[in-house]
Amino acid sequence: MSVCVVGLGLMGSALARRLKNVGFDVVVFNRSLDKAKMLAKEVGVSFAESPGKCCKEADVTALFVADDEALIDVVLMPGGIAEEVRNRDVVNMSTVSTAISLRISRVVENGGGRYVEAPVWGSISEVLEGKLIAMVASSKELSENVKRFLSAVAQRTIIVGEIPKAMALKLALNQLNMVVVAILSETLPFLKLYGIDFKIFEELVKGSWMEPIVSRYLKRAIEEHPPRFKVELAAKDLQCFIESARIHKLNTPITAATMQRYLEATINGYGEKDYPNIAKYILDTLEKLKKP
Ligand SMILES: NC(=O)c1ccc[n+]([C@@H]2O[C@H](COP(=O)([O-])OP(=O)(O)OC[C@H]3O[C@@H](n4cnc5c(N)ncnc54)[C@H](OP(=O)(O)O)[C@@H]3O)[C@@H](O)[C@H]2O)c1
Repeated sequence: MSVCVVGLGLMGSALARRLKNVGFDVVVFNRSLDKAKMLAKEVGVSFAESPGKCCKEADVTALFVADDEALIDVVLMPGGIAEEVRNRDVVNMSTVSTAISLRISRVVENGGGRYVEAPVWGSISEVLEGKLIAMVASSKELSENVKRFLSAVAQRTIIVGEIPKAMALKLALNQLNMVVVAILSETLPFLKLYGIDFKIFEELVKGSWMEPIVSRYLKRAIEEHPPRFKVELAAKDLQCFIESARIHKLNTPITAATMQRYLEATINGYGEKDYPNIAKYILDTLEKLKKP
């Protein structure tokens, strides 16, 4: 069975490696073609020059692109997936707004293809080990090819219902996660300004409901390390949540304030860093302000 992977960022390139390792035929496409050529050579898979060609060559097309705009581009631009989708399965693993996922599902289905929403919980290591949790929605029964693909990458598949329920579930998950983590970007600078060692705070919360949050995210918030999930994508996920809430007239001011914090960090050069590093962004800003 062959799988086309569109979007070779942190997640898509890990997906291509995973699929190759477990014996699928893999073809890859990326907007920056050089990245696709390099990965294809390194991993031993083939590459396509357009998303449409990639989709045509494979049984299942997995989309792992950044955001709404990227999804629209790879599906609808000339040479896009919409041109070659007849009798193909398209599995969208990107996190996008519910309205865009719904719109793209209609494009794929009007073109004679099958669209599956499968946003995932987990990051690079979970992709490489096939341990993602996939949230799945589809208007039709999943094909055997899609089932095979999902079982190669996900240890759990949660069937949520019709489109866009899986995307809504994923956005709710990320909203809670990212809002909670963003709070540390105020807690930690506050402690710092009062000269309180973070270790005392860590010790204090031991045994309380806050312990897992602080022990999981403190180091990740203040130290520089390779990103698992970028600050700019956290801003995008929260924006998608806000948009997807707005169409149902749900006001989400807490999420909006949090989104602005991730966006502010992005504008100030922290967009490519790991999302808990928004605390580091504030701590670094305080340090800069101290300098004469
Ligand atoms: N990282 C995680 O832990 C994680 C976990 C679950 C879900 N996700 C979701 O999975 C998706 C990919 O995440 P990632 O971490 O792999 O992001 P990433 O490293 O930033 O990669 C983004 C990918 O999207 C492509 N892209 C951006 N704009 C495009 C456009 N206009 N047209 C075509 N392609 C475009 C990029 O191509 P170029 O190389 O040309 O820029 C790149 O291949 C996102 O929706 C993210 O929210 C991520």
